[in-house]
Amino acid sequence: MLSIWTRLLLVVASFSFSLASSFGISQEILSVDDPCAGIGGKKWVSPGDVRRCFESFPVDPKVKANIIEVVNKTLAFHTSVNYQVKAPEPFSSDVHEDVIGDLARISKQAYASDFDLHLDLSRTLKRLNDGHCVYINYCYDSLFVSYLPTPLVLLSDENGQQDVYIAPEAFTVVSEEFPDQIDYWENVLPEHLTLSTLSGAKVLMINGAYPFDAVNSNAAITGGYTGYGTRQNSFFSSYQLTDGGWNYVMGNFAQQSLPLYDSVNLTVMPVNSSDIMTVTLPYRARFGTTSLNFTDSASLLENNCRATNGTNGMDLHVSNEADLAEIFTVAGKFEQQPRISIGDARKHGTNVYMDVQPQTDVDLPEVLKPGKKPLNGSQGVAQFYMLDDGVTGVLALGSFSAESFDELQTSLIVGLTGLKSLGATQLVVDVTNNGGGFICIAHWLHRIISGPRSSTVPQAGLDTTTRAGPLARLIVKQVVSGTDVNASSSYNPTQWTFANHSRMSEGYDWMASPVRTVINSREDAFSQRLGQECQPFDMRPPAEALFNPKKVAIVSNGRCGSSCSLFSITMAKEDGAKTVVVGGNKEVPQQYCGTVGGQSTRFSHIDTEIKTAGLKNHSLAPPDFLTNSVQGITWRLGFGIWDTEEPEEWQSHPADYNLLLTNTTVNNPVAIWEAVVTEVLS
Ligand SMILES: *[C@@H]1O[C@H](CO)[C@@H](O)[C@H](O)[C@H]1NC(C)=O
Ligand SMILES: *[C@@H]1O[C@H](CO)[C@@H](O)[C@H](O)[C@H]1NC(C)=O
Ligand SMILES: *[C@@H]1O[C@H](CO)[C@@H](O)[C@H](O)[C@H]1NC(C)=O
Ligand SMILES: *[C@@H]1O[C@H](CO)[C@@H](O)[C@H](O)[C@H]1NC(C)=O
Ligand SMILES: *[C@@H]1O[C@H](CO)[C@@H](O)[C@H](O)[C@H]1NC(C)=O
Ligand SMILES: *[C@@H]1O[C@H](CO)[C@@H](O)[C@H](O)[C@H]1NC(C)=O
Ligand SMILES: *[C@@H]1O[C@H](CO)[C@@H](O)[C@H](O)[C@H]1NC(C)=O
Ligand SMILES: *[C@@H]1O[C@H](CO)[C@@H](O)[C@H](O)[C@H]1NC(C)=O
Ligand SMILES: *[C@@H]1O[C@H](CO)[C@@H](O)[C@H](O)[C@H]1NC(C)=O
Ligand SMILES: *[C@@H]1O[C@H](CO)[C@@H](O)[C@H](O)[C@H]1NC(C)=O
Repeated sequence: MLSIWTRLLLVVASFSFSLASSFGISQEILSVDDPCAGIGGKKWVSPGDVRRCFESFPVDPKVKANIIEVVNKTLAFHTSVNYQVKAPEPFSSDVHEDVIGDLARISKQAYASDFDLHLDLSRTLKRLNDGHCVYINYCYDSLFVSYLPTPLVLLSDENGQQDVYIAPEAFTVVSEEFPDQIDYWENVLPEHLTLSTLSGAKVLMINGAYPFDAVNSNAAITGGYTGYGTRQNSFFSSYQLTDGGWNYVMGNFAQQSLPLYDSVNLTVMPVNSSDIMTVTLPYRARFGTTSLNFTDSASLLENNCRATNGTNGMDLHVSNEADLAEIFTVAGKFEQQPRISIGDARKHGTNVYMDVQPQTDVDLPEVLKPGKKPLNGSQGVAQFYMLDDGVTGVLALGSFSAESFDELQTSLIVGLTGLKSLGATQLVVDVTNNGGGFICIAHWLHRIISGPRSSTVPQAGLDTTTRAGPLARLIVKQVVSGTDVNASSSYNPTQWTFANHSRMSEGYDWMASPVRTVINSREDAFSQRLGQECQPFDMRPPAEALFNPKKVAIVSNGRCGSSCSLFSITMAKEDGAKTVVVGGNKEVPQQYCGTVGGQSTRFSHIDTEIKTAGLKNHSLAPPDFLTNSVQGITWRLGFGIWDTEEPEEWQSHPADYNLLLTNTTVNNPVAIWEAVVTEVLS
């Protein structure tokens, strides 16, 4: 199917080139010679032009072999490879990807262009539906981002019937974010129509088919979350609290990281009208916020496609702090969390979702932002509010990371204590699009809300295990024999505790006797069970629970990943907190979180471990990436709560409530919190 699509595009491309040459337009002829010259230095272009540029790069067999070797050998450190060959129920139909087998297929397969190769690789990794194990190549992913002016939402009407609509706020968002493209889009609309008349319209068909056909096609390739409902939700717009304020997330329909589509046909019925009309809207591609300027193919490749200082790891014996900083900034570009200070990034493990695009910088419209003044303790990703009922406090938490670990930890205790002193007896925690962050902040938040009890002391999160492949075991041997002079290795025993939570001692080879197991008929090996490493906390937690966990509602669009999962799962499964998904398809079971993991990391970090341990020459060590690529992995996997001997990752997390959205609550945080109080906490 891919190759037919490619061939079609090539036919279209060569047709338009010959047309251009026959008109003898020199500019066009220039771009026939170099299809990337025409898009260099431009802010807005058409996705087709970006695609023709990308497709002009042939596969370089040496580079292809390099990418596959790095990814393959890095996956030896990903805990979930064999589980993901076929996940247990209820996820067996969601996750069934033999990624090692597919890499072998890809290495044999021929591709019309390097871009086609990238698409296959990227989608292969995405089929794991694991937001930690993602392959990114900054040469293509979000170099340009394609947009439509019509983000969609799933709303229910007064009869409880759910339909797809253009977001009521669509025009407000677009006129603030893309003022320079409004004319372009309006010029292609029929005479009597403006973009503003489309806001709030009911969508009857997308490209001539039922809207959910498009929702489901996207769910099949978007990746990131195991739950089908969660991947459906990715299609729709939503909001996110970032360290820069309340942002608008366009959703996969209106925002795409690759230039695959030129336009879309929408059959709609505008607000207060019974007219049915079909409009064709072109995607417009905007130069990415983290992409580097170029003028032609050569400079595009040079500036955006080759490995940079932060792409690969480094031997800590010979590197300086500035080089180290590059590793965190380059590989972390598309992580869904604020930038972390280097000190904290090295000191505190994270469990964080990675996407094929950077965090959005589109503003949530002013009318939808909470109008109330944030209360004491509020800072960046953590904002506290009191609802008008005088008994419901709200913690809006956009991430478990912040630039400073200590400040976020302080903010959470000050904010929640403040709410309690104002009379809050129940709590809404809004973690919409929260991609995780610091592991120990998840433990801290659980501990301070629920108080000291068997589910929080000493372990407020999940016990974990890491993969014990031959190279990982050798790293531990090197570390305990003295290569890790500053005790900064993730393989240093002093970082970890036994299953009974007592600290391992220096020099102890904790991987000497791995736990051998068979998963999906494949042999595997893991470390002994690890206990918690967060307590005692640097800060003293309160002696009593701040809230009754049964009076806590954890609310999101299901896109609560990594450390957000650690927090939500332990609160819900152990302490009885209520879980609420907003806006899910009511016919599909909704998971309140996903991409659980235990700790995530990526190639540059593993490569640093390998180089510092003096093992880069080992046959199992991945070479350096030649390309501007990132490979993320789950490095530790959490054990379950209901089934304590199996990973939590593929145990179900059914939401207690699916709060349907209406045209008055959609993308309006305060309206959603009030609806949660009425439907869940009253
Ligand atoms: C991936 O690595 C394994 C060894 O871990 C090897 O058997 C396999 O051939 C490699 N696959 C590819 C495509 O290189
Ligand atoms: C909002 O939805 C209600 C029905 O649920 C409808 O009567 C009303 O016209 C809608 N308003 C807008 C602005 O779409
Ligand atoms: C949109 O509709 C036009 C006219 O019917 C058709 O030619 C085109 O192929 C459609 N586009 C898509 C993406 O379905
Ligand atoms: C739709 O009709 C309602 C009720 O008459 C009105 O309040 C609303 O402004 C109308 N909306 C639009 C977009 O015309
Ligand atoms: C990239 O190009 C834009 C427009 O040509 C210019 O404003 C910007 O300063 C350039 N950025 C860099 C880093 O050169
Ligand atoms: C990489 O680091 C070296 C030495 O610190 C520096 O000279 C070079 O400009 C850097 N390259 C890039 C692409 O940042
Ligand atoms: C250890 O820390 C010192 C001081 O920060 C630093 O100069 C040195 O490079 C580090 N060495 C290793 C192997 O991490
Ligand atoms: C908020 O903080 C200020 C300054 O620290 C303090 O005076 C005030 O009492 C606090 N308010 C609440 C409600 O905690
Ligand atoms: C915890 O487990 C380790 C390993 O089994 C053991 O050596 C240690 O004595 C135990 N500590 C406590 C306090 O039970
Ligand atoms: C790897 O092998 C090469 C060539 O044998 C040698 O020059 C280099 O020092 C070795 N590197 C390490 C990290 O052992």
